[in-house]
Amino acid sequence: MSIKYSENKKTFSLNTASATYQLKIGNLGYVKHLYYGDTICDEDMAYLIRRYDRGFSGNPYDSLKERTFSLDAQPQEFTTQQQGDFRINSIEVRNADGSFSFNGRYLSHRIYQGAFTLNGLPTAFATENDTVDTLELVLEDAVSKVQVTLLYSVFEEAEIIMRAARVHNAGDKMIHLERIMSFNIDFLNGKDMDLISLPGRYGQERQVERQPMTHHVHRIRSGRGISSHQQNPFVALAGRTTNEDYGTCYGFALMYSGSFTAEAELDQYDQLRLVMGINDSMFNYPVAPGEDFDTPAVLMTYSHQGLTGMSHNYHKFYRTNLNKSKFVRDVRRPVLINTWEAAFFTFDDVKLVEIARAARDMGVEMMVMDDGWYGKRDDDNSGLGDWYVNENKIKCGLTELVRQINDLGMKFGIWFEPEMVSEDSDLYRAHPDWVMEIPGRHAVRSRNQLVLDVGRKEVQDYLIERVNSILDSANIYYVKWDINRAITDLWSNALPGDRQGEVSHRYVLGLYRILDGIVKTHPDIMFEGCAGGGGRFDTAMLTYFTQYWSSDNTKPLDNLKLHYGSSFLYPVCSMGAHVSEASPMVPFETKAAIAMCGTFGYELDATHMKKKEIRACKKMSDLYHKYYDLNFFGDYYRLSDPFEPVNLVAWESVAEDKSEALVTVITVGLTVNGPQEYIKLKGLDPDRMYRMDYDGRELVLSGSALMNGGIPIPREVPDFTSFIYHLRAVK
Ligand code: DGJ
Repeated sequence: MSIKYSENKKTFSLNTASATYQLKIGNLGYVKHLYYGDTICDEDMAYLIRRYDRGFSGNPYDSLKERTFSLDAQPQEFTTQQQGDFRINSIEVRNADGSFSFNGRYLSHRIYQGAFTLNGLPTAFATENDTVDTLELVLEDAVSKVQVTLLYSVFEEAEIIMRAARVHNAGDKMIHLERIMSFNIDFLNGKDMDLISLPGRYGQERQVERQPMTHHVHRIRSGRGISSHQQNPFVALAGRTTNEDYGTCYGFALMYSGSFTAEAELDQYDQLRLVMGINDSMFNYPVAPGEDFDTPAVLMTYSHQGLTGMSHNYHKFYRTNLNKSKFVRDVRRPVLINTWEAAFFTFDDVKLVEIARAARDMGVEMMVMDDGWYGKRDDDNSGLGDWYVNENKIKCGLTELVRQINDLGMKFGIWFEPEMVSEDSDLYRAHPDWVMEIPGRHAVRSRNQLVLDVGRKEVQDYLIERVNSILDSANIYYVKWDINRAITDLWSNALPGDRQGEVSHRYVLGLYRILDGIVKTHPDIMFEGCAGGGGRFDTAMLTYFTQYWSSDNTKPLDNLKLHYGSSFLYPVCSMGAHVSEASPMVPFETKAAIAMCGTFGYELDATHMKKKEIRACKKMSDLYHKYYDLNFFGDYYRLSDPFEPVNLVAWESVAEDKSEALVTVITVGLTVNGPQEYIKLKGLDPDRMYRMDYDGRELVLSGSALMNGGIPIPREVPDFTSFIYHLRAVK
């Protein structure tokens, strides 16, 4: 059992392979957080907490005038509300009598094997090879009878603890949640910690920012209805001196695809509190007597091996415990070509077959028909919602088109954007009340489209039926699921005015229900997510989509940064990356080497390619397959930081048994007559010898030489040259 309860000490120790997380039922039944870090023996870490009178920090009434006992100064496992803890809250509940108060104390607990699941929200799952145990610990407010169950699933070998909270109304009157976080974690000393986040914007997702904790609330949020390009629902807390390889690092990834918040507060005593959950802006959720409200889950991990250790934990977890699709591990993902940048809305069946035929010579194995194949969709003003094949464009019909592509020996993929509607569409004309629009106001347009009220069951049912009927009408192998705007005008015509605070979260629950009805019922189809690039790239989406389109920005040099930032928690095999015609000064080989830091494909008009380019692409497609396992399933190392003024950007994948490694180096600005640059490798076996081709000859070097001395990178080359070194251990 990875969870131990000590009846004596009233402590719960949650042990992963190399970390311990400890909590304790403390005075008056308040549950304290004691520790999260390297494995400890069975100690009760409560000795760390000293109590002394702290001015202006109140004392619970039944602490009987004990002035040293204050929730404001103690590390909590989940917060109370209005009990004298003035730091950021994990819960704000309006009780039936109008009061805002929650005084949650220990009621009960249970420990069982396996992982918890949530109502309508995605979670990670245990496989038959994992040790996974769950603790459910119930806190109750004795007056309102509001209960909060704290859920912890410990994935022992994976070094991940999944947490969530479930609110249960055990009273006899309606309550309203105005804020409910998925978790709360308090560190006794946060002064020397940095907060790392992945901010960005459209076309420049998941850049990296690291800021020292100071005495205020640091807030990372999305209020866009999607997890967003602007912030990813992920933060890390790292020691001030932590770097890629050394030092403590905690990761927190919220499994949620809507508006979220992550708040970190360094308090008056240098303690650090972090909470994460659904964004509480415009949020108000009623919970009727006997009902539950589940928060999204969060995936927490700890490593003392720096940022790399944290990333490895997340990467491995994706490969085993997040997504059950056979395309994660068991079935190779084909090299694809996507029509978007080749044809935009202007294509027909003949053009598509021409592109596929030309692409075949580039080693492409799947043709993806992007936006424009349905309804009246010749530009972005119309058609969304009408998920019927446009027979003016696909004249031979979809079944026949797919057959023709299959006859070329290629698979076929298709694009959808189900959550949206155009005003010029049959769907909108039939159901204008299905859009989100506040009565008496005009809804905000974005990319000329409106948002369907996906929280409504009839909308969900329509979309499930429409998408499934297309998928079942032809031999479709792949789906790209897009969303091309943020969500505004939170209003549902299906709910009364006083329940509009539910709309944003209901949208996300509706989306997950639609995906359950489509993705889970088509296990033989491979799904890729997209939100105008990577605007909804999150761990919840990765439970449905095997991969996510990283960005609409296919410029290779921008992608160096984007891949670097994404790799903090997302593995290579989850990031869609394509070679395109953007940045013509960058050679095809280099574009391809960069796209191989993701799920490889092309985004161009193959019919316009020169013979030389086609040959270069074929070589790169073959290379993608040659190193597929190493690249997708190896341990990934960031060898340089592209946000620094570097001359080279490099990364490496090392096989789990350290028998092979693949190193990619891109020159981004070697100065004339400058110093020699070296790339030091990581993760090799120091005592083994590795063979590699280097500068036209064979080199055999020990892992220790390669890791300590490095590889001297040839510098008499043009900018944007790529080097791919394959190292194989000599038996
Ligand atoms: C945005 C996506 O990111 C693009 O790849 C493309 O699918 C367009 N949408 C189509 O509208």
